[in-house]
Amino acid sequence: MKRPSTFLGMLVAALLLATVPAIAQTPPSTDVHLGVASCAGGPCHGNTAGVKNTGVLQNEYLTWQRLDKHAKAFTALQGELGKRIARNLGIPAAEKAQVCLDCHADNVPAEQRGVQFQISDGVGCEACHGAGQKWLGAHASGKIPHAQLVGEFGLYPTDDPLARAKLCVGCHVGSGSRFVTHRIMGAGHPRMPFELETFTQIEPAHYQIDATYKKRKTVAAGVQFWAVGQAVALETLTTSLQDPAHKGDGLFPELVFFDCDACHHPTSSLRWEKRASSGLGPGLPHLNDANAVMLRAIAARIDPAAGAELEKAVLALHGALSEGKGVPRTDAAAVGQIAHKLAEAFAAHDFTRDDMKAMVAALVARGTAGDYVDYAAAEQATMAFASIIYTLKTDNLIDAKQAGALKSALDQCYAATQKEEAYQPAKFVAAAGAVGRSLP
Ligand code: HEC
Ligand code: HEC
Ligand code: HEC
Ligand code: HEC
Repeated sequence: MKRPSTFLGMLVAALLLATVPAIAQTPPSTDVHLGVASCAGGPCHGNTAGVKNTGVLQNEYLTWQRLDKHAKAFTALQGELGKRIARNLGIPAAEKAQVCLDCHADNVPAEQRGVQFQISDGVGCEACHGAGQKWLGAHASGKIPHAQLVGEFGLYPTDDPLARAKLCVGCHVGSGSRFVTHRIMGAGHPRMPFELETFTQIEPAHYQIDATYKKRKTVAAGVQFWAVGQAVALETLTTSLQDPAHKGDGLFPELVFFDCDACHHPTSSLRWEKRASSGLGPGLPHLNDANAVMLRAIAARIDPAAGAELEKAVLALHGALSEGKGVPRTDAAAVGQIAHKLAEAFAAHDFTRDDMKAMVAALVARGTAGDYVDYAAAEQATMAFASIIYTLKTDNLIDAKQAGALKSALDQCYAATQKEEAYQPAKFVAAAGAVGRSLP
């Protein structure tokens, strides 16, 4: 490994020493990653012409390479912004820095890189589908069922909501050695709002959910991906809060955990409003609890007892963080445990139309409770509405007229959250109300 220099080097070293366990994950596989080129062959996933009745599209490589931002994740490090971030942080080259590569590439150790592996492929096939060493041959034979490839050969179950949530949240929220600090944000890194179902939809699909797919795999509803994603994101945040490697920067705690706008919005537009769920007054930075706000709305319907527990635990965490006695590990762990339990409960739950209706109503009600004073919570609520409406539509649970009304209400939510710097809570609360009224 390169010798670390500057504070980032120290950070990297500290991260390597950190022994905080990752959230409920199996130990990392030591199998070899064969590289994108070993998936991209014409007869396999790089097909440009007709498919060969394999049940999959076979042009997955082309979709990824041409349309998917993951294919550009490494080159982004070499672009103008990547260079600027590196310069501001005092690292010689972002494309060589572990702190960037861990999320912007399939950064497995040298001994796990096959002959066709190239770090410059960015977030390649095996970053999501798992090391190909054991499953490549078996899956190409077409004779081994999907469940067995997952169970015995190390193919990652990307179709499973809980597994997908852990995979995507691992980079898009991040914990352990994959972590964007406030310093990295300050150096110019974009904010990373994440919602599993919305991001699943934004990513150009290289798969098709048809009859043969349904025979092979789990087809979970979008709303379930949303719910499970929220719980896993909150659990991940609390894991990082407890991680000594992210305990802070000089005088300050790690600011990335807090609501950005609590410090960054202009003082000429006063936003503060009483929030029962944080219990804090104006003038105090507060934890970014957007995922917890969503989770309470889901739990209120699916597991009200856990929802009440969560409410109390989040309140305690807000309080403890504001006391300035360092990281309140016990309080963070308590929230994490409830989130963990909820992730499992949501993964086992069959979400009905009535559930979705009740959750929309609960999300709208969070506005009356003051929770959308935070831009981050409004942004999450917008993505939540989008995911629920999408599920209602694809499962034919609403008619065309309702779909139209919901769409125009959702458009108002998008408009109200389009620009962080111009965010006005009252406008968003009104737009959320319109979503609620459109789903009788
Ligand atoms: C190894 C880390 C990693 C994993 C795992 C990962 N991503 Fe990403 N993702 C990234 C990075 C880095 C970018 C930014 C790439 C760029 O813009 O250059 C990104 C970008 C995206 C974008 C584009 C966002 C935009 O602003 O347009 C979407 C959508 C996305 N990811 C969805 C997902 C989903 C869904 C999953 C899980 C199935 C996932 N990602 C798993 C690292 C990852
Ligand atoms: C915890 C994972 C993580 C780490 C660590 C990380 N990034 Fe990112 N980065 C992302 C994700 C995810 C996105 C996409 C955000 C979005 O659009 O939702 C991104 C976006 C970017 C972009 C914008 C890409 C585009 O297409 O506009 C640049 C540039 C970038 N990162 C550079 C860096 C650099 C330089 C480092 C190291 C100092 C770094 N990142 C560390 C996850 C990470
Ligand atoms: C950011 C994560 C990510 C990356 C990178 C990625 N995939 Fe996928 N892939 C998924 C997800 C999510 C699904 C949908 C769930 C599923 O079918 O398991 C999927 C599905 C598939 C399917 C299944 C189609 C089916 O009908 O069963 C194939 C084949 C596939 N991907 C191939 C590839 C190839 C080849 C690459 C690289 C060129 C690649 N993927 C890169 C996340 C990813
Ligand atoms: C507790 C207060 C606080 C919180 C919360 C906070 N920041 Fe900051 N931020 C600061 C301070 C102080 C500076 C340094 C002073 C400056 O550059 O204006 C700064 C600087 C920055 C800068 C560089 C500004 C520039 O003009 O160069 C960016 C970008 C930034 N923060 C992004 C974020 C993001 C994104 C979040 C949320 C994830 C966040 N901050 C949360 C206090 C905060």
